[in-house]
Amino acid sequence: MIKTANRIANVEEYYFSRKLAEVRTLDTPELRVINLGIGSPDQAPSSPVIDALIASAKNPAHHGYQSYKGIPAFRKAIADFYANTYNVALNTETDILPLMGSKEGIMHIAMAFLNDGEEVLIPNPGYPTYSSVANLVGAKLRPYNLREDLNWGIDIDALKKSDLSKVKLMWVNFPHMPTGRTASREELKELVDLARKHQFLIVNDNPYSLILNDSPMSILSIEGAEEVALELNSLSKSHNMAGWRLGWVAGKKEYIDAVLKVKSNMDSGMFLGLQDAATEALKNGEEWFTALNKVYAERKAVGKKLLDLLGCTYAEKQSGLFVWAKAPAHVTDVEKWIDEILYGTKVFITPGFIFGEAGRRYIRISLCCTVESLNEALTRIQKHLEAKHTEQIVVK
Ligand SMILES: Cc1ncc(COP(=O)(O)O)c(C=O)c1O
Repeated sequence: MIKTANRIANVEEYYFSRKLAEVRTLDTPELRVINLGIGSPDQAPSSPVIDALIASAKNPAHHGYQSYKGIPAFRKAIADFYANTYNVALNTETDILPLMGSKEGIMHIAMAFLNDGEEVLIPNPGYPTYSSVANLVGAKLRPYNLREDLNWGIDIDALKKSDLSKVKLMWVNFPHMPTGRTASREELKELVDLARKHQFLIVNDNPYSLILNDSPMSILSIEGAEEVALELNSLSKSHNMAGWRLGWVAGKKEYIDAVLKVKSNMDSGMFLGLQDAATEALKNGEEWFTALNKVYAERKAVGKKLLDLLGCTYAEKQSGLFVWAKAPAHVTDVEKWIDEILYGTKVFITPGFIFGEAGRRYIRISLCCTVESLNEALTRIQKHLEAKHTEQIVVK
């Protein structure tokens, strides 16, 4: 048996990679699993996107390696999207690097900026990949709590009082997953100022800005951000293209060049058909987002009913593809409770502990599921709770 590298000793296989395999074993034609777990949009991209992919794939000249920096048309479409959506001017040539989804960018940025033992500020709760990647590159994790009493905001005063001298990188993610919290311009400005003062890189991971959110914002629109900030963005959620693996990182040339140094040694560019399709997707206008958000708002209303039935509490206003909710006080072990629901109803809900210690009392439901399925989940859970109630009476 060959011993694996030390760097993977503190990293586990991604939770969903393990758990969804278990969930799939429960799926039968008689009773299908209802997956309220991951944020993988179940609707199709706009039809011009599919047409662009097909047309591009039919061209025999489109199947070779592509530029490491993406085609100019895709980068131009990203720059236009940033100008129109966030009022941010990006240089098409120097400030944008297309990625195969924003997730890979988390690794590339960590590899480009973090030395062994340097500290990384990571939101707790937060997207688990930030911690795994920090472990993989040998950096030191510095989780910072998002506080429920601040409506899941960052306690910036506490951060300011702490020793930030060894911090090299701070991950922020607004609109935040899993809590759905957005940040105000003032909060982002304070964070950018902190990064400038202590000379660390601040990276906003921004894939949810156009989902159930009235004021999409980019960290790059904050004064002074260009000196210290990068932003990851993605077509996965807002354009229903999660499986296509299309995203990008934006920021100033020197930082983008550093990320390219890593990335260009790892892959050999992105299939031209995907880039043509992405260029088309970025033309989706207001009508697209209005229709998309109408669907998610309808689903959210049913999702909230389901959470009410479970006795959970939640903030009314949450952006993004999920509803984050606190489990009722009588539940002592939320992970066990979620498994009990899964095995009793075949409805899968994400337990909050996977997002960090601060998520232990919480659950997250995804809106990537039809209203019909959500209603079916509601019915199953209702029956399950009634059966449990009857069981308890009989035992007494
Ligand atoms: C906060 C956050 N960042 C990044 C990602 C990855 O997105 P992509 O599909 O662009 O890699 C996700 C996906 O769930 C996410 O929730």
